[in-house]
Amino acid sequence: MLNTDWRGLHGKHFEGARALVTGGAGFIGSHLAEALIKLGASVTVIDDLCGGDEANFNDYRAAAGDRLRFVKASILDAEAVARCTEGCRYVFHQAALGSVPRSVEQPVLYAQVNIIGTQTVLEAARKAGVKRVMFAASSSAYGDSPTLPKIETMPPLPKSPYAAGKLAGEALMRCYAASYGLDTASLRYFNIFGYRQNANSAYAAVIAAFAKALVAGKPPVIFGDGEQSRDFTFVHNAVHANLLAARAEREIGGEVINIACGERVTVNELAAQMASMFGRPDLKAEHREDRAGDVKHSLADLSQAKKLLGYAPIVPFSAGLAPTVAWYREVLKA
Ligand SMILES: NC(=O)c1ccc[n+]([C@@H]2O[C@H](COP(=O)([O-])OP(=O)(O)OC[C@H]3O[C@@H](n4cnc5c(N)ncnc54)[C@H](O)[C@@H]3O)[C@@H](O)[C@H]2O)c1
Repeated sequence: MLNTDWRGLHGKHFEGARALVTGGAGFIGSHLAEALIKLGASVTVIDDLCGGDEANFNDYRAAAGDRLRFVKASILDAEAVARCTEGCRYVFHQAALGSVPRSVEQPVLYAQVNIIGTQTVLEAARKAGVKRVMFAASSSAYGDSPTLPKIETMPPLPKSPYAAGKLAGEALMRCYAASYGLDTASLRYFNIFGYRQNANSAYAAVIAAFAKALVAGKPPVIFGDGEQSRDFTFVHNAVHANLLAARAEREIGGEVINIACGERVTVNELAAQMASMFGRPDLKAEHREDRAGDVKHSLADLSQAKKLLGYAPIVPFSAGLAPTVAWYREVLKA
């Protein structure tokens, strides 16, 4: 585990504040909830556990005491969301169905959860008089345009129902800011990784999937030639960006903001590096056909994040990979 000094970074800004983290039993949401708890906030988590796990609270549930409240419900349940939002100063909207390939198989379900669910969260936030909503947007909105780095002014080109849903969420964030004066921010995450990211799903993200294969002594599977690159971003960077956005003194007004590490790593490089870290450099990656909806390259321009939030990554790629690998070794061992 990485002991990021949240107090050093955010001081007393969240002391005594109440926040809602939707999808807080998931990977990113559980890290956000943890940082907020460490900063003295009270956190309500709403999650239907379709992808998350209450075990993700284990590291801090005891220390949080009654400052952590977990409600098992769907973000499509407007009454439950309204109850959870009451009295909150901030909403960190992380709940969603992830996975580009699964969204291609189930587009209607994705629209319900990721679009209508987002609208439901915004409605509750508006009625509760929340100060700001932070939305987990996605770099997948950029699609396949070859221009690098990706900058927020580029036209979005969603290639999958997942990307389209995330883009619709951004539009809703902007519209609630413009129509109702509810301040919002869309943080476009680029390939977030770290401990607690689920490796036990057919749709696991690449670092989690490689870890699972390597622990089992199998070669990592790469879709395509492996020369696709990603801006892999350790999860504490995403948490830091959310906290900066919540604290921002000026209105954000639904602006879209890239959140990443600003480093580009190919999937082949990642596979080789992880194989060595797991002590199995002999396990060479196995290549399979490209997956529908996957994008070739991804790298963020971070000037908007710097300008609007004062954001700069706090954990570089390799510093985040080490504790992540250590965690997978522990939890995935037979
Ligand atoms: N991990 C990444 O690289 C990445 C990149 C871009 C955007 N995002 C976005 O960040 C957010 C968090 O992603 P994550 O990686 O932590 O995924 P995750 O699957 O670990 O977390 C999502 C959580 O949402 C919950 N959830 C799903 N549908 C729900 C519903 N109807 N009601 C209540 N809870 C529901 C799941 O149970 C899960 O706990 C998501 O919105 C995702 O789209 C993630």
